[in-house]
Amino acid sequence: MSTIIDVENTYTSGVYGKRQIAIVRGKGALLWDVDGHEYIDCAGGHGVANIGHGRTEIAAVLAAQAQRLITCPEIFYNDIRARLLERLAQITPESITNFFLCNSGTEAVEGALKFARLVTGRIGIVATLRGFHGRTMGALSTTWDPHYREPFTPLIPGVTHIRYNNLEAAQSAITEETAAVIIELVQGEGGVHVAHEGYVRELTSLCRERGALLIVDEVQTGFGRTGRLFACEHYGLQPDILCLAKSLAGGVPMGVIGLGPHVMESGRITKGAHGSTFGGNPLACAAALATLDIIRQEKLVERAVALGEYTLQRLQEMRSPLIREVRGRGLLIGIELNRRVQPYLEALCERRILALSAGPNVLRLLPPLVITEEQLKHTLDVIEELLVHPKTQNASCAGNSLRDKSDPYILQ
Ligand SMILES: Cc1ncc(COP(=O)(O)O)c(C=O)c1O
Repeated sequence: MSTIIDVENTYTSGVYGKRQIAIVRGKGALLWDVDGHEYIDCAGGHGVANIGHGRTEIAAVLAAQAQRLITCPEIFYNDIRARLLERLAQITPESITNFFLCNSGTEAVEGALKFARLVTGRIGIVATLRGFHGRTMGALSTTWDPHYREPFTPLIPGVTHIRYNNLEAAQSAITEETAAVIIELVQGEGGVHVAHEGYVRELTSLCRERGALLIVDEVQTGFGRTGRLFACEHYGLQPDILCLAKSLAGGVPMGVIGLGPHVMESGRITKGAHGSTFGGNPLACAAALATLDIIRQEKLVERAVALGEYTLQRLQEMRSPLIREVRGRGLLIGIELNRRVQPYLEALCERRILALSAGPNVLRLLPPLVITEEQLKHTLDVIEELLVHPKTQNASCAGNSLRDKSDPYILQ
C-alpha cells in the first residue's frame, strides 16, 4: 500500500518543499503524525492556529452552520455575516469601519491594492524590502523576495520596494503618484523584523501629507499574535486599509479587507468594483465569530504577552556563538543565526518540535497562543540544547555556513 507521502509526492504540484512527516491529528499546540508520534507545533499552521488545533467549539459551530446554510453570496444578506461585520467593526482599529470579506491573505492584499488604486486614481505602490504579502499577481508584486517574483515578471507596474524602518527611503519613494504604502508591522516571513515606533508615526504622516493610503498587512500579526489583538495597537496606528486572514476563522479559510474613511468617503467605491464568490460565506463567518469568542474568553492576547516575554527573555539569555539576534513581539519570535536555519529545523523536527524559517537564517516560532508553559519550556530547552550546547547537536548542523555574499536577505 502506498504511504501518504508517496501518494502526495506522486500527485502534488511540486511547489512545496515538504517535510517528511504526515500529520493527521491535532489538539491545542500538539500534532500527531500517522505513526502516532507527538510534536509540539511551533509552526502554528503558518500562523493560522492561534486558538490551537482540534477545537470542539469550532467543530460544533461548523456542523450547526453547515446544516443551516453553507453558501450565500454577498448579493444576499445573511444573519451570521451581519453579526461578524458588526463584531469586526467593534474590534478593529477605530479608523476601520467597513469590510470586504474574502478567503485568504493574498486575496486581502490583492483587494487592498485594487481599492487603493480605485480610490486615489493613482498607480504607485510602495512596499518594503523583505516584505511578504502573498503570491497572486498583485500581492506578489509587493512581495519582495526576488525568488518568488522574478519567474513571473512582468508583474503589476508602479511598485517600488524601499528599506524597512528607513524614513529617508520613504521620503523619496512616496510621491503624489503613490496610491498606497503597504507594510507589515512585524515582517513575518522576511525575518521577524519589528517596525520602529518613530518610523511608523512618520510613515503615517508622510502618507497623509502626500495623499497616499496606508495599507497595514496584519495577515500574520492579527488576532493576538503580537500581544495585542492587532499590532496596530502597539503604535496607536489608524490605517486606511487593514488586511487580515490566517487565524481569523480558527483554521477555516477567510480573509478581510478593513476599509477606513479615505476609502469609504471617496465616493469611488462603485457596485461591481470587486467581488468574491466564497467571500463572506456563512460557514467561515460562523467559525470567525466562534474564534473571536475563544480569543476573548481564554484571554489569548494576554497569554501571548506573558508567554512572549518569557520566550524572548529565555532566548536572549542564551549565550551562543550561533545566535546573532533574537527579535519578536508576543508569540511571533525570530532567532537570527549566523548559520543557515534549515538543518536546525530538521534537528528540531527529529526532537519532535515543528518550527519555521523566516528567510535563510532566521528560526521562527509561531506557536498556537494556547501552547502550555510546559510545552514552551520544553521547546526552549531543546533550542538551548541545539544552539548553546552544540556538541549534542544534529550532525547536519555542523559546518553549515551562510552564503553572506550571495543571499539578498542577508545583504538588505
Ligand atoms: C503578512 C502576510 N501577508 C499575506 C500573506 C499571504 O497569505 P495567504 O497565504 O493566506 O495568501 C502572508 C502569508 O504568509 C503573510 O504572512
